[in-house]
Formats: sequence, C-alpha cells, structure tokens
Amino acid sequence: MTSPSLPPGPPGHPLLGNLREFAADTLGFATRLAREYGDVARFRIVRRTAYLLSAPEAVERVLVENHRNYVKHTFFWRKVDAIFGRGLLTNEGDDWLRQRRLVQPAFHHERIAEYGRIMTDYTLDRLDGWRDGEPRDVRGEMTSITFRIVAKTLFDAEVADDAAEIAEAFDTGIEEIARRIRRPVLIPDRVPTPGNLRYRRAVDRMDRLVYRIVEEHRDGGDRGDLLSALMEARDEDGRTMSEKQLRDETITMLLAGHETTALALTWTWYLLSQHPEVVTRLEDEVDALGGEPPGVHDLPRLPYTERVVREALRMYPPAYSFGREALEDDEILGWPVPAGTTLFVFPWVLHRHPRFYPDPLSFDPDRWTDAFRRELPRLAYLPFGSGPRMCIGREFARMELVLIVATIAQRFRLEWGADRPTPMASITLRPTGGLEAFVRRR
Ligand code: HEM
Repeated sequence: MTSPSLPPGPPGHPLLGNLREFAADTLGFATRLAREYGDVARFRIVRRTAYLLSAPEAVERVLVENHRNYVKHTFFWRKVDAIFGRGLLTNEGDDWLRQRRLVQPAFHHERIAEYGRIMTDYTLDRLDGWRDGEPRDVRGEMTSITFRIVAKTLFDAEVADDAAEIAEAFDTGIEEIARRIRRPVLIPDRVPTPGNLRYRRAVDRMDRLVYRIVEEHRDGGDRGDLLSALMEARDEDGRTMSEKQLRDETITMLLAGHETTALALTWTWYLLSQHPEVVTRLEDEVDALGGEPPGVHDLPRLPYTERVVREALRMYPPAYSFGREALEDDEILGWPVPAGTTLFVFPWVLHRHPRFYPDPLSFDPDRWTDAFRRELPRLAYLPFGSGPRMCIGREFARMELVLIVATIAQRFRLEWGADRPTPMASITLRPTGGLEAFVRRR
C-alpha cells in the first residue's frame, strides 16, 4: 500500500529509508525494502526520491531498454571524483563511448587468452612465499596477486613493491568515500578537514604510481598494451589524450581491475572453507590436470571450478549495488519515474531472492545446471551489470578467477580460524573481521 503522505508512485514509506538506516545496514535495509514493498520500492535518501528495483524486468528497463535515459547517479559519483576522475567507470555520453571503444580491444577474447599465463605465473610466484600451516590474510594475499596481474597485463608494469601501499591508499580513499556517503552534506575536497587531508594523501600516492607507469611508457615506445594504445590514440582533430585523461583511465583500470576480483576470491575461499564436500570435488577436478598449472586451454576441463566461482559471485557479489539517475520522466512496470529519481539495483537482493534461487542462502555450485541457467531470467544474475555499461573486464575476471582458484587448489587448502568474516557494504562488498586462514599444503 502506498502511504497517503507520498505522491503517486510505487509503494514505500517516507520514514523507511532515512540515510542513517540505509548507511547503518545497507544490505539488510535493501533486503527488507524489497521483501516488504515489492519489485519497485520507494524510499527517501538525502532528500531524494529513490527506487529499489528488484524485478529483472525493471532492471532491464533501466540498464538496457531505455539506458539512454539513465546516467550513473551523482549521489554517489560526485564523491569519488578525485580518485577516478573521468575514467571509463564514471564518464558519460559521447566521451564515455569514445573511451570505451578505445579500451575495448584490450579485452577482446584473443587478447585475454594471452593474459592467462601471467595470471597463473603471478599466482605461483605468490604461493612460493606460503609455508605449510601458517596463517595468511586472505584478502591481502588475493589483492597482491590481482593487482600485479592487472598492472602487468594491461600496462606492462611491475608493481609487486607497490601493492601493499596502494592497497592501503585505496582503502583510505574508500573509507573516506563511505564516510562522505553517510554524511548528507558534501564538504568540498579543498577544505582541509582531517578526512579530506587523508583522502588527498591517498589520492597523491595512487597518482605517483600512475604517473610513474605513464612515464615509463613514454620512454619505452609502443609496447602493444592498453596504455600504449591509449597514448597512441588520436581524436578527430589528431590530438592525443590529455595527461589527466590518461591518468583517469589508468587508475580506473588498475583499481576496478583488481579490487573486485580480490574480493570475489576472498569470498570464494571463505565459502570453500565452510564446505569440505565442495573442496573435495574441486580438488578432484584440478588434480585431473596432472600437476601442471592450468592454462587457458584447460578452462573447458574446469567446469566445476567455474560453477564454484559463479556461485560465490551470486552469494557475495563484489559490486553488490549500483545506481542510476533518470534524466527524463519514464515508467517502470507501470510506476511513474519522475526525472531526477535515483534508482538502485542490488545484485545482493536479486541473487538471494527465493523467487529465482531455491534455498538462496545455501552455497550450492551444483545449482548451475544448463537447464537452471536457461530458465533463470537474464537479469536475475548480474554480478557484472548489464547493458552498454556492463563491466568491460567481465571475461578477464571470469577467466582470472577460475585460473587462480585452480592454481591455488592444486597446491593448498585454506582453513579458516574461528573468526568469520562478515560482509560490509562499502563501495564494494568487503569482508570485515576474520580474514585470516591457515594455508595447508596438499
Ligand atoms: C569479479 C570481478 C568484477 C566485478 C564483480 C565487476 C563488476 C562490475 C560492474 C557491476 C560494473 C557495472 C557498474 C554499473 O553498471 O554501474 C563494472 C564496470 C566496470 N568494470 Fe568491472 N567488475 C569486475 C572486474 C573487472 C576487471 C577485471 C576490470 C578491468 C580489468 C573491470 C573494469 C571495469 C570498468 C572499466 C567498468 C566500467 C565500464 C563502463 O562503464 O564502460 N572490472 N564492473
């Protein structure tokens, strides 16, 4: 029922959905909202009207069918400007399209296949440092691996020595952004509050790395990688990309290309540690490769590993939510969407909806049969988004996740201590607490 105090629109409640409640327990809030108010549920956030969409057809309207009417919402993105600038993730309109076309070749199927070797080599390199029975910070380990991989594959850069510092700077940046989201008033970056100063220092640290990578490329000529392609690119007037745009694209790829995959791996290892029967089947599959590290040509022989990763991305989607803003009036499943409405899509909610997933809270890689995949509504599973703004790195990520899980599972088993991670809805779905696992050599 629509509350009488709301103008006509989908059900919701003006009191449900103040910023404090949203920020304190984002995942619970979104889940309750969908459960209580249905497929298009209305709430208020920072004096804005927002809709939570939890029917695949509603999501399709925004991300695919009428995508031109929806831009990434300013509620969130104006707060991450200093980090991402106008890179691919945050850009809009013609600028976005031009940049997306420039970047796309680095993600063509054949190019990605060339990256497979680097993915396993860098994983093996990290495993060299693991000693049987010792505790390891799983997220830190996974971050070191994925950060090195993205820097090497796309930018031909060696960043092993920078990984820890960049991860810390990125964490600081993310925490500060999360604080900004919880605060209704935006304090401009130039005001020297302690938070802004921390944020600035973190961005400076990331910038130093990016400018170093760009400089190394200037000296080295065309290396056939993404950064060389960006540096060679010319617009209609023959102009090259500005330093700032190069910086924005590079940092976007470095960050978007490693944090999400590291989180997906962390959640995968955690889920595995709780399901020994799944581990046994996973190990049987990877052992059948005969001890050799897996290569791209082995992917067809790793269907169970693929299902494990797919199921982990369902239960803990690193991009647990994303949003849009309506440019003009629209209609979704019969409800009016006035221009300026903020729309949220929560893969977290869709992926755990009993309408699409029987027994949604159980980790069950076997649910992903061919028949199940065929019958699942297309947008009931969207860890990588959908439509034109769909993740450019999805194929890269899927392959990387399977190769890394298989490479590690061939050699180690991860056993969690008593302390368990819980999901925290930051910018991405981060585990808090309980990140340590004992690594047992097989
Ligand atoms: C498990 C890993 C990953 C997940 C869950 C993920 C998720 C997503 C999602 C949901 C979006 C769309 C957001 C929206 O529509 O608002 C997105 C966009 C994007 N992702 Fe990923 N991603 C992953 C890995 C990667 C990798 C490996 C790269 C690069 C190497 C990457 C680069 C990007 C970029 C550049 C965009 C913006 C694309 C555009 O707007 O044109 N992602 N990602």
